[in-house]
Amino acid sequence: MPYFQWTGSLVIGIKTIDDQHKQLVEMLNNLNDTMEQSGQCPAPELVDRLKTYAAEHFHVEEGYMQAFAYPEFEAHKKEHEAFCDVVLSLGNSCADGSAHPAELLEFLKSWLTNHILDVDMKMGRFLEDHL
Ligand SMILES: [Fe+2]
Repeated sequence: MPYFQWTGSLVIGIKTIDDQHKQLVEMLNNLNDTMEQSGQCPAPELVDRLKTYAAEHFHVEEGYMQAFAYPEFEAHKKEHEAFCDVVLSLGNSCADGSAHPAELLEFLKSWLTNHILDVDMKMGRFLEDHL
């Protein structure tokens, strides 16, 4: 059983975005496997790779939202920015030993789950009506 199990309830209905979400889940599972094997923080490059991919993905979502004048664009974008800030600081804390690796993984898992199920789902419904 993977650390983060992809389920149909996470599908927002926009294929490009769903595929990227699946990729993020897979990257998180790989990060977890690496951490379980070593018992240590994932290498900063791996955390960085996930953060870079997430930033690219956010850019795609933001492009959709802007293209269709999504009314909750600003608030949604702020969540993306907050995510990048926390991953950066937690990644650093993990690397310098002041945070346990599990904290980073748990943050990623719960943020992704909550973000997809709440704001991304709302955005998906809006886009489906406008695409
Ligand atoms: Fe989002």
